[in-house]
Amino acid sequence: MNHKVAFSFADGKTLFFPVQANEILLDAALRNGINIPLDCREGVCGTCQGRCESGDYSQDYVDEEALSSLDLAQRKMLTCQTRVTSDATFYFDFASSLCNAAKPAQRLGKVCEVQPVSDSTAIVYLQLDQPLDFLPGQYARLSIPGTAHQRSYSFANRPGNRLQFLIRLLPDGVMSNYVRERCQVGDELLLEAPLGAFYLRQVARPLVLVAGGTGLSALLGMLDELVARGCEQPVHLYYGVRSAADLCEAERIKAYAETLPGFRYTEVLSDPSPQWTGKRGYLTDHFEVAELRDTTADMYVCGPPPMVESIKQWRQDQGLECVQLYYEKFTESNI
Ligand code: FES
Repeated sequence: MNHKVAFSFADGKTLFFPVQANEILLDAALRNGINIPLDCREGVCGTCQGRCESGDYSQDYVDEEALSSLDLAQRKMLTCQTRVTSDATFYFDFASSLCNAAKPAQRLGKVCEVQPVSDSTAIVYLQLDQPLDFLPGQYARLSIPGTAHQRSYSFANRPGNRLQFLIRLLPDGVMSNYVRERCQVGDELLLEAPLGAFYLRQVARPLVLVAGGTGLSALLGMLDELVARGCEQPVHLYYGVRSAADLCEAERIKAYAETLPGFRYTEVLSDPSPQWTGKRGYLTDHFEVAELRDTTADMYVCGPPPMVESIKQWRQDQGLECVQLYYEKFTESNI
C-alpha cells in the first residue's frame, strides 16, 4: 500500500509524493525528483536530516553522531534511514530550491459558488478537475481575473477538488471588488499552491486554535482535518472579530462540538455594540492560563500581525514557553 508523504521546506513550499510500503523515504523522494542533500546514505553523516511533523515511521540505523537521543525524541529523522508506516509530513530546515524541487503547482479553478457569510466576509468555492494536495492550514495564491494582481488565502477545508476560501470584503480592494462586483459562477482563477509553513502537526497535546478575522479560514481547514482523523485531544477555538456582524460560520463551528469530543469555543469582539453580552476586548484577556500551564498545549494562531505579535508577547509575559506556538500572519491588502 502506498502512503502519501509531504515534504515541507523552510521557504514555505510543500511537495507531495507517494511512498511504497517499506520503501526508504530517500529512495521515494529521489524517484519523484526531490533531491534531498545527502552524503553517506548510511545514517552517519546527518546531511539528510529532517523532522517528522505528523505520521508514523521507523528508522533502520541512526548513528549517535548524526542524531542524539534528544533529536530522536523531537522526531528528527534521517531520510536515508526512514520508512513510513502511515501518511506523513516531514519538515526540512532549508529551501526547496536546494533539492532542485519543482515549483508549487499552478492550477485552474472554476468558481462554483460564492456565499456571503457575514457583513465583511464571503466564501468563494473553486472546483478543480483533479484533487489538490495541501496540508490543512496552508494557503494558495489566487490570480484575480481581469487584473495583474494576486492575493493569498488560506484553504478553509481539507484537500480535495472543491476548495473553499474565506475572503474578507474590504470597502475597496482588488479581490473584494472582484468578489462583490464581477465574480460569476464559471469564472476561471489561476491558483498557485500549496504554500506556507503553517499547517497542522502531529496532535499529541491539547490544541488551542486562535483566529483573528478571516484567519479563521486556516483553522476551519484544520478542524475539518481533526474531525476526519478522529482527534482525541481537547481542542479550544478562540475567534476574535470586531463586531457581531463580522462573525461567520457559526453553524459549522457549533457542529464541531458534536464531532470533536473535547471541543470548546470562545468568541471575543473587540468593538461590540452596547447590546453585546458576550466576551469583549483582546483575545489574550480571555485565554485560560491555568489550563495551558497545567497541560501544555500546541497553539496555532492565524490573524493580522498585531494580533500574532500580542500573543507572542503574552506567552512570554506569562512564562508559557512550554506552549508550542505556530502562527501565520496575514495582511489585508487593499492595493
Ligand atoms: S545521507 Fe548521511 S545520514 Fe543520510
